[in-house]
Amino acid sequence: MNVLNPAAALRLRQLALLPHYDTRAPRYTSYPTAVQFTPHIGPQQQGEWLEALALDAPVSIYAHIPFCARLCWYCGCNTRVVHRGESIRDYVVLLRDEIGMVARRLPGRARVGSIHLGGGTPNMLTPDDLSVLFGTLREDFDVEDAAEIAAELDPAQLTAEWARAAAGHGLNRASLGVQDLSPAVQAAVNRHEPFEVVAGAAAMLRAAGVSALNFDLMYGLPRQTIADVLNTLDQVLTLKPSRIALFGYAHVPWMKSHQKLLDEAELPDGAERLEQSQIAAERLASEGYVEVGIDHFARPDDSMAVALKARTLHRNFQGYTTDQAGALLGFGASAISRLPQGLVQNQPSELLWRAAISEGRLATARGVELTDEDRFRGEVIERLMCDLEVDLDAVAARHHRRAGELAGAVAGLAPLEADGVVERHGQMVRITELGRPFVRTACAQFDAYLDSAALRHSRVV
Ligand SMILES: C[S@@+](CC[C@H](N)C(=O)[O-])C[C@H]1O[C@@H](n2cnc3c(N)ncnc32)[C@H](O)[C@@H]1O
Ligand code: SF4
Repeated sequence: MNVLNPAAALRLRQLALLPHYDTRAPRYTSYPTAVQFTPHIGPQQQGEWLEALALDAPVSIYAHIPFCARLCWYCGCNTRVVHRGESIRDYVVLLRDEIGMVARRLPGRARVGSIHLGGGTPNMLTPDDLSVLFGTLREDFDVEDAAEIAAELDPAQLTAEWARAAAGHGLNRASLGVQDLSPAVQAAVNRHEPFEVVAGAAAMLRAAGVSALNFDLMYGLPRQTIADVLNTLDQVLTLKPSRIALFGYAHVPWMKSHQKLLDEAELPDGAERLEQSQIAAERLASEGYVEVGIDHFARPDDSMAVALKARTLHRNFQGYTTDQAGALLGFGASAISRLPQGLVQNQPSELLWRAAISEGRLATARGVELTDEDRFRGEVIERLMCDLEVDLDAVAARHHRRAGELAGAVAGLAPLEADGVVERHGQMVRITELGRPFVRTACAQFDAYLDSAALRHSRVV
C-alpha cells in the first residue's frame, strides 16, 4: 500500500479544494484596503489628523524610495529605473522638506520606535543622501535607542561602503531581494542575480554589524518549478536568515503594465502555485522555521516568531510586522500613513508628489476615514491574518460592540466550515491547517466592502 506522509496528504486535500478557493481577494495589509481610498480625504484632513495625534506612544516612520537600477518584470512596487544621481538627491531633499513639514504639524516632538526604508531600492541612495535623510529624522524626531531601523535592499546594488554608512545611522535589519536563483526563471523575469551576489551582500551587511537579515523569495514566477523553489531555499538557508518572506507572485498587469512583458503561458497554474508554496513551507518547517501567517517564516528566536507566540503580530502596508505603534507616518511618493482617524496615501506619481512638497503642501492624494465598524472588522481580519484565529467576543469587547453584529459574516463562513477550512466553536473562529492557504477568503467574509472591488485584487493562492 502506498501511504502518503501527512504533509503530502494535506497538500492533496488542499489541491482538491483549490477549484473553489482559487479566487481573488485582498492581502489585507490594511482594512479598509487601498481600493476604498477616495480623493475626498486630502491634505486638509491629513493636516488636522496630524495636529490631533496623541504623542504619548512612539510612532513609526516609513520612507519610500521609488528608484531602481533595473526593472524586474514581475515587480509590483511603485518604482522607476534611474541612472542619474541628481534626480535621487533632489528627491531626498524633498523628503527632508516633507518630514519637516509633517513634524511641524504634530502637537509636539514625537518619539520614533521604528523606521522602515522601502522601495524601490533604498540602497540607490548615496551615503550622503542617507546622511541627509537620517539627519532630518533625528533632528525632527526623538528616535529611540531601541528603534528597529530596517531597509529593503537590492543585493546587486549593495556596496560595503553603503552597508557601513547605513549601519552608522542605526540600520539593524535588512531585507534582501532574491526571488528565485534559477537562471531560467531569472531570464524570464529580467533579473540576473547569481547566488554569490546575494551571499556577498549578506556578508557586507554582517560585517557592518547589521545582523538581522531577511530574504525575499517568490513563487508562481514564469518557468518556475518546485525544484527551483527548493533549490533557491537550499542556497538561501546556508546564509542563516532571521526571516524568509515567500511571496506569491501577484500578476496584476492591468495595474503594472511592465508585467505584460512576462509570458503568461509560462506562469505556473493555481495547483502548481499551491504546491510550490506548501512544499517550501514544509521544507522551512523541517529546518526549524516558524510559519507566520500566509507568507513569512522566522527563526524561533526572531522577533517575528516571538510576536506571533505573544499574539502581538500586526499587518501593515509592508506585510507582517512586529511594530506595535498606533501611528505610522509615511513619506515619499505613494507612501501610506496610518493615523488614529484614518489612512492616507501620498501622490503615487513622483512628479505630483514633488510638485506638492516643493510648494510646501502635504502631498496627500486620497485616503479613508475609519468608522468604529471599520476598526472592529479590521481587528477581526488582522487577527485572522496573523494568528489564524480570532475570538469575536474578545475583539467586540475591545471595540464596545457585539459579536452578533458580524452574524452575516459568520453565516458566510458556513461553506468554509463544511470544507474544513474554518472551524468554529462559539465565537471562536479558527483557520485549520488545511485552510491556511485560503485565509484571505475567510477574511473576505468580514470585509463589508468587498463585492464591488473583488476583481481588482491578486489571486488568493
Ligand atoms: C522593494 S522590493 C525588494 C528590494 C529590492 N528592490 C530588490 O528587488 O532586491 C520588495 C519585494 O517585493 C516582492 N515583490 C515585488 N513584486 C512582487 C509581485 N508582483 N508579487 C509578489 N511579490 C512581489 C519581491 O519579493 C521584492 O523583493
Ligand atoms: S523587484 Fe526590486 S529591483 Fe526589481 S524593479 Fe522591483 S523594486 Fe526594483
